[in-house]
Amino acid sequence: MSAQALKPVPAYEDGTLRLADGRVTLRRPLAEDAAAVAGHMNDFDVVKNLSRAPWPYTRADAESWLAGIAAEAGPRGAYPFAIVTGGALAGVVGISTNPANPGEVELGYWLGRPFWGQGYATQAARLAVRFAFETLDLAVLEAGHFADNPASGRVLQKLGFTYAQDVARFSKARDCDVACRMMTLDRARFASRSEQGGASHGG
Ligand SMILES: CC(C)(COP(=O)(O)OP(=O)(O)OC[C@H]1O[C@@H](n2cnc3c(N)ncnc32)[C@H](O)[C@@H]1OP(=O)(O)O)[C@@H](O)C(=O)NCCC(=O)NCCS
Repeated sequence: MSAQALKPVPAYEDGTLRLADGRVTLRRPLAEDAAAVAGHMNDFDVVKNLSRAPWPYTRADAESWLAGIAAEAGPRGAYPFAIVTGGALAGVVGISTNPANPGEVELGYWLGRPFWGQGYATQAARLAVRFAFETLDLAVLEAGHFADNPASGRVLQKLGFTYAQDVARFSKARDCDVACRMMTLDRARFASRSEQGGASHGG
């Protein structure tokens, strides 16, 4: 896996960056998002599917995560985005280097329970993937989903990710290793699917 750096994005740093597709908008998370983030993450069925989030997840966890985003200046190890729809924060999607292997860059996402099953994850992740390839100029993206979370696997499949390998990944919330399916998407495949319309029609 070749090393990939996350290059600085001035519009992210000054807070003006908006990635939108008509139904969802991605923007940099703000301190004022703490209540919404904590509200959605106070749900084991959300947090158990993430690798690094603690359980229980408190308002202080949200505040500390948001303060970290505000304090970090480019070049960043991660570009997290609030997923906003109808004026509400529905969840978070991000592009981040893998702390266990900084040469890898991963897509990650979660939605609060009221927003599940409406296509929001696919739409938001598609905007983040486009940002990763077209703005950050990455060559390849990784993403992993726990084997007992097939809905997330389906999101990745709809974006064009293909299966790479099974690994055991630690889940902080579950406090154990969990079987994880690693998927990858490279820039050429993303571009060719975009040209064919596949990347905009959920297929
Ligand atoms: C997993 C999650 C991101 C899905 O978000 P979402 O907005 O409901 O996803 P979408 O609606 O865009 O797509 C979900 C797809 O999975 C499918 N799906 C749902 N449950 C499924 C299941 N049990 N098995 C297989 N596919 C399933 C849906 O039918 C849909 O596919 P379709 O469009 O072909 O019908 C959301 O439930 C979530 O945030 N869960 C908690 C956190 C999490 O799991 N994050 C991902 C970590 S890898």
